[in-house]
Amino acid sequence: MTSFVPIAAHLPPAQLTAANLTAAKAPVPFVDLSWQHNPIQADILAVVEAVLAKGDYVLGQAVTEFEAAFAQACYQTTQVNDLVGDEPALDSTPYGVGVGCGTDAIALGLRACGICEGDEVILPANTFVATLIGITAAGAVPIFVDCDPQTALMDLTAAAAAITPKTRAIVPVHLYGQMVSPQGLLALAAQHNLIVLEDSAQAHLAEREGYRAGSVGLAAAFSFYPSKNLGALGDGGMLVTREEVVAQTVRSLRNYGATRKYFHTDPGGTNSRLDTLQAGVLLLKLPHLQAWNSVRNRLAAYYDSALAPLATDGLLPIKNISGQGHVYHLYVLRVTHDCPLDRTRLQLALEQQGIQTGIHYPIPCHLQPAYKSLGYRAGDFPHAEMLSQEILSLPMYPGLTTAQIDRVVETIKSVVSAAKIQTLQDSGIILDPGLDHGDLT
Ligand SMILES: Cc1ncc(COP(=O)(O)O)c(C=O)c1O
Repeated sequence: MTSFVPIAAHLPPAQLTAANLTAAKAPVPFVDLSWQHNPIQADILAVVEAVLAKGDYVLGQAVTEFEAAFAQACYQTTQVNDLVGDEPALDSTPYGVGVGCGTDAIALGLRACGICEGDEVILPANTFVATLIGITAAGAVPIFVDCDPQTALMDLTAAAAAITPKTRAIVPVHLYGQMVSPQGLLALAAQHNLIVLEDSAQAHLAEREGYRAGSVGLAAAFSFYPSKNLGALGDGGMLVTREEVVAQTVRSLRNYGATRKYFHTDPGGTNSRLDTLQAGVLLLKLPHLQAWNSVRNRLAAYYDSALAPLATDGLLPIKNISGQGHVYHLYVLRVTHDCPLDRTRLQLALEQQGIQTGIHYPIPCHLQPAYKSLGYRAGDFPHAEMLSQEILSLPMYPGLTTAQIDRVVETIKSVVSAAKIQTLQDSGIILDPGLDHGDLT
């Protein structure tokens, strides 16, 4: 396998020296995967050749190998945080079942866990719509809850309050790369006899309280969309579980409901399989995932300290309460009411300087037009709604350099200070040197 450029080369913090000045002025893309793919291009082509030679295009050997390797990885914790309770119990090998995408992993996973038509399933209002689509595709009734305004993670007290006799499952979303409290989830599930299916699409190998994402609930769904922390060269997903029967059912559901060829035992089966080609690429990348995550975490710490002076201007990063266990799929900043300019103006100003940003997500799920019939209204989930107005995702990927982060933060600082001056001029507290101030001059 071709060796990667040492990621540590991007750290520690770089100075804006003559050597990197040109790079510092270049556009900063929101995501750039070339740093990841260029060094392994020959290995990727070798994967394609191997599949061509073997002809195992669908559910081939690489799928089986990747399923086992990824499921194992989800259950290996590096114990980055102090254990609050017991270690996660694991009496058997975990199972991975490769599917077509993360959305299917949620839908098929819920059905394999026994969720039926009309069962209520709790999810946060502030997630990507795919969480909701997975739940409705399983025939369940989605029940939204609000989030914590500082971490953007599902509020477990709100989740407890939303439980009814029809509630069968909870789908916590480990949003932006940070896990919802495993201890909190397990306590809630035990108290109310609920199934936990973790939406881990943004949290490959994230850790908290001694657990890795995917090892907390009965099952977990992962996405391998290209820009994810572990990404394929197209769509892909996986259901990870420690229950053999759940794994077997998803294996059947993903393959037309067949337990063997032309023998269909599970109604509602579909065609949703992870390609052998994609699994081969994912197998190549998996050994690097932990190092990439740790670079993301260190880049986020660099952003945090560079942005700290802007806290008094109302710019607040989403809080990390998991230390090194946060895998920063996204680095998200809140542009609060105390900021002298709003999020739209800040985003536009950054774009004009060649700095791409994103919003994850601009409309909470309960206010999406397609789901109007669920009966939710504006005001139902104030924290999720407030965050949807405030959040701005800054560039984040392991190939990002500290010089690029310096450029992003310096640009934000200059835009904010220009807005401050403008505000003071508008209120007449200071004079605009460009205007004729008549008698006053
Ligand atoms: C939180 C969350 N859940 C589910 C998904 C769905 O994954 P996929 O796009 O592979 O269907 C995504 C993907 O973006 C996601 O971010």
